[in-house]
Amino acid sequence: MLYSIFCFLAFVSTCAGAILTLADQCWHEFPLSAASFQSSLNGAYQITSIANSEVFQNEGLGRIKNTLGNTKYGRWTHQPICTEILEGVGDKLCVYTNSSFSHGRGISIFTTPTIAEEVAGLPAFQDPAALPKANVNIDSRVWEAKSIPGKGIGVVAKRTLKFKDRVTAYTPALLAYLDDGLELLEREKYLRIAVEQLPEATRDSYLHLAYIYGYPDIRVQDIVKGNTFQLQLAGQNHLAIFPETSRFNHDCSPNAQYYLDPELLTHFVHTTRPVAPGEEINLVYTSPLEDTATRQQKLQDGFHFTCSCSRCTAHSTDPTLDQMQGMQDSLNDWSATSTGSPKLAEKLLQLYRKEGLEGFLDIPYGFAALAYNAVGNSKEAEKYANLAREAILMKDGPWTPNLQLWNELLKDSKKHWSYRRRLE
Ligand SMILES: *[C@@H]1O[C@H](CO)[C@@H](O)[C@H](O)[C@H]1NC(C)=O
Repeated sequence: MLYSIFCFLAFVSTCAGAILTLADQCWHEFPLSAASFQSSLNGAYQITSIANSEVFQNEGLGRIKNTLGNTKYGRWTHQPICTEILEGVGDKLCVYTNSSFSHGRGISIFTTPTIAEEVAGLPAFQDPAALPKANVNIDSRVWEAKSIPGKGIGVVAKRTLKFKDRVTAYTPALLAYLDDGLELLEREKYLRIAVEQLPEATRDSYLHLAYIYGYPDIRVQDIVKGNTFQLQLAGQNHLAIFPETSRFNHDCSPNAQYYLDPELLTHFVHTTRPVAPGEEINLVYTSPLEDTATRQQKLQDGFHFTCSCSRCTAHSTDPTLDQMQGMQDSLNDWSATSTGSPKLAEKLLQLYRKEGLEGFLDIPYGFAALAYNAVGNSKEAEKYANLAREAILMKDGPWTPNLQLWNELLKDSKKHWSYRRRLE
């Protein structure tokens, strides 16, 4: 838990004493970019980065009409408490709490009235069956939070998990508008109300999360700093704290992946390879495909710890990553002299596995699908496109643009631009 930091406030900035903002050091994207695929033949490379969509895009928010809830505050159980109009925001920000949300788990959101209205229109609020049907906010009984030597608290498997098993699925306790321009103590006042209005159990689990600096005056934000994911609501970045999910520690070869569901407001975690009982379940906090020094630095700066996972200490990691990059370049080369081939794609796949990157196999699977199709083997191409699809869904959810690449190939592989491309 000590290491569960996805985003961070500028508490210790070089400009000591300056007004601290929630935004300064937050990652606006979780830069897990790894590969680009050519998506069509007509010259123009449409570069689609394979990114773990930390920031979840919610273009659908506006589509759903909010039918007002059953109290005088609409979908909220408490009267919204608002700031003045804030210059940087162009609106006021208010604390919106629904303490009966998801059978009494509760949720508090510090945002603009417009965004609150849109959020209240989401299936998570509107459709009482939506969260239960997806088993959200229910103990999956496959994990427990446990103390891990040298790492604080972590998540440990209680039983054998297979590939693709669900580990957790939770809605946030708190969502807060990013870049609000408020002063630290002023923001603390509102976020404190947001947390205090939560039902007792949720409030307690929030307040028991790890914090970084230990200043009681800004405890709520100190916890935010230690435990945040970032997501977009109606195109605006928000910080999100999911108490259970904060327990996952980092590993550069994680055995689980997560994505955020914008309609259910839910953070889902699934295993990307089998996990034994007693084994720790990890997520990755920085791109596992970057070189070791860069990863180390980002984890140090962003998450205040020195990465000691095997891929941070092994000497073989960087040469292997270089090799992988070279192979991806060849597979992405569609000129007549390209050395891209199914064999090369299979080799790339092996290297991903060897590096413990089972959570990122959509990349080599995708290259394999294209490479097989390019030699006219549409059967293998479809097999790998399906695997790429499955992998990307676990990593990025159905909202990722790259899913389209594989759907397109699967629609009719023989009509796909890549078909027999390397035979001509
Ligand atoms: C709170 O959220 C639930 C969904 O879990 C919704 O059914 C309810 O209408 C919301 N608002 C109020 C005031 O309870």
